[in-house]
Amino acid sequence: MSSFSIAWLDLREPADFAAREKNLVQHALDWLGQKTDPISPDRILVDLGSGTGSTLRSLTKLGATNFVWRLVDLDGNLLDEALKHHGKQLLIEDYQADLTVVNELPLTGANIVTASALFDLVSADFCDALIDRIDSRKTAFYAALNYDGTTQWSPAHPLDETVLAAFNQDQRSDKGFGPALGPTATDYLKIKLENAGYQVQIAPSPWRLTGEHKTLVENLIAGMAAAVADDYGIDAAALEAWKAFRLEQVTTGTCMIGHWDLLALPAK
Ligand SMILES: C[S@@+](CC[C@H](N)C(=O)[O-])C[C@H]1O[C@@H](n2cnc3c(N)ncnc32)[C@H](O)[C@@H]1O
Repeated sequence: MSSFSIAWLDLREPADFAAREKNLVQHALDWLGQKTDPISPDRILVDLGSGTGSTLRSLTKLGATNFVWRLVDLDGNLLDEALKHHGKQLLIEDYQADLTVVNELPLTGANIVTASALFDLVSADFCDALIDRIDSRKTAFYAALNYDGTTQWSPAHPLDETVLAAFNQDQRSDKGFGPALGPTATDYLKIKLENAGYQVQIAPSPWRLTGEHKTLVENLIAGMAAAVADDYGIDAAALEAWKAFRLEQVTTGTCMIGHWDLLALPAK
């Protein structure tokens, strides 16, 4: 399963929805509601790295109505999947575009720019350029499910810390945007957005995974082991033993993965 396959995004979506900090979404919707124009009630939401539309589905479930959903992703298959799901019920504009070309992102008229599970992949330079663009239009900003570097397994294994340290180092490698912010993403965004005059709220949104999430956890274990296999000096046999132990525990063990959600509203 590739990192951003439809199957992987489908697998993580229920855990993401459960983890999202619902109060932040409510604040965003309340703020956007105050902007409603009775003549033209549609507001424009631009979801960056939208995948198949997980943000759209989550916000709709939490009460978002009257939006033009502008979905932006490099992967046309994921956008097609989003249109297949919702094209007839919702107003969706799909843009197959590379987010790194920040000046060409379709932000015209946007009331809010959103993203889920994206900002730990991006670089500081990308954030700076994006914040310049949204700030120039006083657009609201919601970035959910940014990994914070914490992973707690139960039961523990002696190699957990070694694997996690290597995994977190790997999270800082280039994911197509330059050196990734990885676990520092939320802090970086918060400081930069506050410096730009935004009112920023952050809240934890951890994944709390149990045997119910067996397939997700199995994929997570395989992904972590693959990410740290080559470049971090971990003994291959020890890593195999860690992976085998972790896979044995998926039904009865637990895993907590830390994320943070962030909402930034422009000053009035
Ligand atoms: C972790 S997935 C999250 C997808 C979706 N937001 C969700 O929560 O299910 C990251 C998404 O970013 C997209 N992406 C990664 N790099 C990109 C780039 N340079 N330009 C546009 N999209 C990109 C991927 O195709 C993928 O859909």
